[in-house]
Amino acid sequence: PRSVIVKGTGSYTPQKALTNNDLSKIVDTSDEWIFTRTGIRERRIAAEGETSSTMGAEAGIRAIENAGLSPEDIDVVVVGTMTPDMPFPSTACLVQDKIGIPNAISFDVEAACSGFLYIMEVAAGLLATGRYRNALIIGAEKLSSILDWEDRTTCVLFGDGAGAAVLGHAEPGEDRGIIDFKLGSDGSKANMLHQPGGGCAIPPSPTSINDRQHFLKMRGQEVFKQAVRVMGQAAVEILEQNGVEADQLKCVVPHQANMRIIDSLSSRLHIPIERFFLNLDKYGNTSAASIPIALDEAARAGRLERGDIILLVAFGAGLTWGSTLLRW
Ligand code: ACO
Repeated sequence: PRSVIVKGTGSYTPQKALTNNDLSKIVDTSDEWIFTRTGIRERRIAAEGETSSTMGAEAGIRAIENAGLSPEDIDVVVVGTMTPDMPFPSTACLVQDKIGIPNAISFDVEAACSGFLYIMEVAAGLLATGRYRNALIIGAEKLSSILDWEDRTTCVLFGDGAGAAVLGHAEPGEDRGIIDFKLGSDGSKANMLHQPGGGCAIPPSPTSINDRQHFLKMRGQEVFKQAVRVMGQAAVEILEQNGVEADQLKCVVPHQANMRIIDSLSSRLHIPIERFFLNLDKYGNTSAASIPIALDEAARAGRLERGDIILLVAFGAGLTWGSTLLRW
């Protein structure tokens, strides 16, 4: 079978920037605390009326254009999100309608911050059947809608945005594409990072709202330790199993959650931090949107050249984690 390649990328981030100083007027925090612990300076916040599907559609339109394709060429739409517009229908169906993709199968996958690497493997698997030509995969999040703006331990970390890629088949003789995936999960750590309310276990009620059950809850230090461990492991394993030396990597695009987590990955892999693409200072943690926004910005900034070997690596709630190795 022909290999699966990234044909194009696109991203969209809302206009409104919320700086650390702005946040210090909402909760008891400071630019110094946030920046030294996380590397984040500001994050984007969706305007009223902007949702995961509107941002996702904008990123998707840009990715289709960047791939030199039109909506008619897309036959799979997969969205990774933990902040869908609504429980159903899927955000992917809403995106399909907004872009005007006439013939596609559309569905969501939920793997929190690892969402983009999960949808990449799912879409690549569908393309490998030979039944589909091109897949539009989108990570889109409006995390501001589930943040507790009275909890300084979480609200300073996250932001809104969307990133997308079009996956398709390599032309005969084209020597590039996805080399391998390595995904993992551990559901025994589900309550380290979760939004307890809003599903069927705790449906919306005056009590659930009063108890702040519809907000993101996180045990930050435990998540930090797990993130360092599983991201390192996912990266080391995929390199070893494919006989790729860390030296050969032209660029690492990590999930943009915390600079200290990325620094530890850099030390563990012995890859200088200059070879990591970083934008978390501008956007904070945008969950499933983080890797595709970074990938798009890296591509447009000329950081990725045809033939380069690049590594994507993520972790998130679930717990979930993953790595993807590809020849750009
Ligand atoms: N401003 C000022 N002080 C704060 C803030 C804040 N925003 N938040 C917490 N503090 C205080 C705490 O209350 C605590 O005070 P105390 O010592 O008086 O109790 C002190 O700062 C230290 O808090 P810690 O939690 O120990 O701080 P830590 O160094 O662990 O940093 C952080 C916290 C940044 C959350 C870190 O643990 C982290 O990044 N964890 C990983 C989080 C992450 O990446 N999550 C995303 C997962 S991906 C997904 O699926 C969404």
